[in-house]
Amino acid sequence: MKLWGGRFTKETNEMVHHFNASISYDSRFYSQDIMGSIAHVTMLAKSGILTDGEKELIIDGLKGIEDDITSGSLPIDMESEDIHSFIEAELINRIGDAGKKLHTGRSRNDQVALDMKLYIREEIGNIDFLLKKIIITLHELMKAHTQTYLPGFTHLQKAQPVTLAHHLGAYVEMFKRDRSRLSDIYKRMNLCPLGSGALAGTTYPLDRDYTAELLGFDGPTLNSMDSVSDRDYLIELLSALSTIMIHLSRFSEEIIIWNSNEYQFIELDDGYSTGSSIMPQKKNPDIAELVRGKTGRVYGALIALLTTMKSLPLAYNKDMQEDKEGTFDAIDTVKTSLSLFDGMVSTLKVNKSKMAYSAKNGFTNATDAADYLVQKGIPFRDAHSIIGQIILYCIDKNISLEDMKLEEYKEYSPVFEADIYDAISLEACVNKRNTIGAPGLEAINKVIEINEAYINSSK
Ligand code: ARG
Repeated sequence: MKLWGGRFTKETNEMVHHFNASISYDSRFYSQDIMGSIAHVTMLAKSGILTDGEKELIIDGLKGIEDDITSGSLPIDMESEDIHSFIEAELINRIGDAGKKLHTGRSRNDQVALDMKLYIREEIGNIDFLLKKIIITLHELMKAHTQTYLPGFTHLQKAQPVTLAHHLGAYVEMFKRDRSRLSDIYKRMNLCPLGSGALAGTTYPLDRDYTAELLGFDGPTLNSMDSVSDRDYLIELLSALSTIMIHLSRFSEEIIIWNSNEYQFIELDDGYSTGSSIMPQKKNPDIAELVRGKTGRVYGALIALLTTMKSLPLAYNKDMQEDKEGTFDAIDTVKTSLSLFDGMVSTLKVNKSKMAYSAKNGFTNATDAADYLVQKGIPFRDAHSIIGQIILYCIDKNISLEDMKLEEYKEYSPVFEADIYDAISLEACVNKRNTIGAPGLEAINKVIEINEAYINSSK
């Protein structure tokens, strides 16, 4: 059934019908559509626009439809134009004339704006839950690896030693920011558009504050033209989702590198790896690669919506229907990526000795060796140069700084003493760095404590 057949004398061209229809994707928010309709008729009855009897009939009818769609006994008719028309037609089918009053004082423009907000609010909660789960997984790993040493890199060149706890802690901070971004978006979007009508409000004495309250909004939106055409919150959401994907993608890249034969810092669990059809020795990090690869489609959804919204005049335009598929796809992609990522990280095996060996054999303690000379009274620039020459010597002999004999050190500077070995051990290099945010044991334990409180306090 069409909601708008009255002024037409001809059937819609079939291709036009399908091009125009959105049921194939907006059917996913049927329960939000029904929730909004129940709040709407509750308000209509309170405002004296519907009788209590009509309200009860409509609400019972809507609840029955929701139950039947959920249980599968009422298949959604994919020939309908959209989920709003499908539900309204089904309601009229079931309860007759009272059903025809559901759409009083409402347009599909404010209806769809509401449905999408209700849907997004719920998905923000789901994504937030998954982010928190990853944070907890990483937090547990941090606690277990405060003394697991590995090289820290800049330019993907070994730089200074850090610990695995410190390295993972960087991602904990990223995911904490992701959660706070989502909560900002939630706060800003949480105003109810229902009652804005097609664009200019309605002539009925709607109680918009009441509808907003019934649906858990902080209040009604304040401009009906903006209400039906605002898609800012979706752009903000897609930007936040893109940022989550950046974080997952960077982490994936590291996992791929760490899991490689050359590094062997970690080994992915068999359950999270895949094989090759031709090379029997292969165990590939496909999950990490796919998460990295899927980042592109989430960015794509953001760019697509930015482009769709550009230059649209006020108020509603059908272009805006294009907000849905990309957003839904981005949400699904982020949720799957977060869940799989959590499983992959919590099951991977850490190869502590490979990490430590790599940190030891890449001169990551060179800065500390230079600092040692500074402590003995040598200006930093000279110290830098002396250690540089020593490193050349070590490279030539294929040894590390720890392998140098004291006599060999003394050839470069008489100030070297036996305490050089303590000064440049991995443990010393890391644990001397104890300002908050640094990898030293004392500093990282403080951060772990802060994160513990964060996890316990945030819902
Ligand atoms: N399917 C439409 C959308 O997603 C619903 C609003 C239709 N409004 C209209 N004036 N045709 O935007």
